[in-house]
Amino acid sequence: MKVLITGASGQLGQALQDSAPGSCELLALDSRTLDISQADAVRPAVSRFAPSLIINAAAYTKVDQAETEPGRAHAVNAEGAANLARAAQGSGARLIHISTDFVFDGNKSTPYQPADQTNPLGVYGASKCEGEQQVQEITQSQALIIRTAWVYAAHGNNFVKTMLRLMAEREQLAVVSDQIGTPTSAHTLAQAIWRAASKPDLRGIYHWTDSGVASWYDFALAIQEEALALGLLDKAIPIRPIRTQDYPTPAKRPAYSVLDKTQSWADFDLAPLHWRVALRQVLQELKEQRDA
Ligand SMILES: NC(=O)c1ccc[n+]([C@@H]2O[C@H](COP(=O)([O-])OP(=O)(O)OC[C@H]3O[C@@H](n4cnc5c(N)ncnc54)[C@H](OP(=O)(O)O)[C@@H]3O)[C@@H](O)[C@H]2O)c1
Repeated sequence: MKVLITGASGQLGQALQDSAPGSCELLALDSRTLDISQADAVRPAVSRFAPSLIINAAAYTKVDQAETEPGRAHAVNAEGAANLARAAQGSGARLIHISTDFVFDGNKSTPYQPADQTNPLGVYGASKCEGEQQVQEITQSQALIIRTAWVYAAHGNNFVKTMLRLMAEREQLAVVSDQIGTPTSAHTLAQAIWRAASKPDLRGIYHWTDSGVASWYDFALAIQEEALALGLLDKAIPIRPIRTQDYPTPAKRPAYSVLDKTQSWADFDLAPLHWRVALRQVLQELKEQRDA
């Protein structure tokens, strides 16, 4: 199977390449080799390679910066997604598009179902939400859209690596405890996407994250505990829970964004890892990188 991956140098783009089935012929393009916001670049790239599957892992992911760069966020997350959907439609390729828990407002207190009402709180979420809608419309709901959340990896910039740096530099930390979601390893997400790729009949919106639930505070505590156990950190520092209102950010974030995965567990035929187990694997990878 010929597979075109966009956003190849991102956390997910890299993880997709690392875990691709041997039977796939990959063309993995990063933002320099294919800017998905440029329709004139997307069309020829797709028709030249003629993939049977396109996985869109490219996105404008700077949630706070998006508040002052709405045009850029829209160009990549909405127009870029639409460009890929049109190219897929025109060439007969299947499209797997990745989206986010930030399409929801977080006012629920039970896991979000794929069909729940979207109501993004910020520019990033709104641009991703529009991307989903465009993909659905252009492909007449034939595309597979997978929403995920709180993604991290050994590769790239993310909460885990920021915490490890701050835990090594600082005497203490304060982390928000009133935003609840599910940390998700890019590696386990990539495995779920490849599993979904092997099931050609899947279409519509699905949710996938690692299993379990945490606040950013819980996540930070787990990072410290696991990193100490692996020898990635030398000493424990006090970590204090704070409220979102005590840590203002330019973009508002959903207070609760746990995604219901019942359908994907059944249809992908894949059991998820608990987020803490997946975290241990990524920290182990960081340790191996450090010791190499
Ligand atoms: N990270 C999270 O916590 C999270 C949570 C929920 C959902 N998601 C979704 O998961 C997917 C993968 O995210 P990720 O964590 O892998 O993000 P990431 O590490 O920021 O990777 C995104 C990649 O997209 C590339 N990109 C940006 N603009 C582009 C453009 N115009 N054309 C082509 N490529 C472009 C970036 O390249 P440059 O760096 O060169 O700009 C980057 O390599 C995205 O759809 C994201 O919305 C992520």
